[in-house]
Amino acid sequence: MQRVVVANDHGAVELAQTLITHLKERGFAVNHLGVTTTDSVDYPDMAAAACTEYLAGGYAFGVLLCGTGIGISISANKIDGIRCALPQNRYAAAMAKSHNDANFIAFGGRVDYPEDPVSMLDSYIDATFEGERHQRRVDKIMGLQG
Ligand code: RB5
Repeated sequence: MQRVVVANDHGAVELAQTLITHLKERGFAVNHLGVTTTDSVDYPDMAAAACTEYLAGGYAFGVLLCGTGIGISISANKIDGIRCALPQNRYAAAMAKSHNDANFIAFGGRVDYPEDPVSMLDSYIDATFEGERHQRRVDKIMGLQG
């Protein structure tokens, strides 16, 4: 069973639960690091927890959520080895995998998406990294770190 790590702040409790339920329905084992209440937490802490867990190994990918998805994706992308995408729609979600080989996908719980975030997550999961010239570009992305 493939494992997925999920973390969110107080701005995305409901959407996190919706995506977790869907991931479980799709057969993933979900490790949810929180949070489940609207008590305020700091999204960089949630990003750090999920990325550290992912980098320990054994995960297919990770999902991060905050109010906009912006703060938590910025935070995740500060961490070596993480490529966190913040897609606008299903097309961008698929490209995040097929072109960018993103290992995290982020969503905003307070964002009014033009397409269902569940279907965006599916587009990401069901896409395949195309490699070749995209691998060269991903390597260049990762070379920008440190
Ligand atoms: C928290 O109020 C909010 O700032 C956070 O969830 C996120 O939107 C930040 O980018």
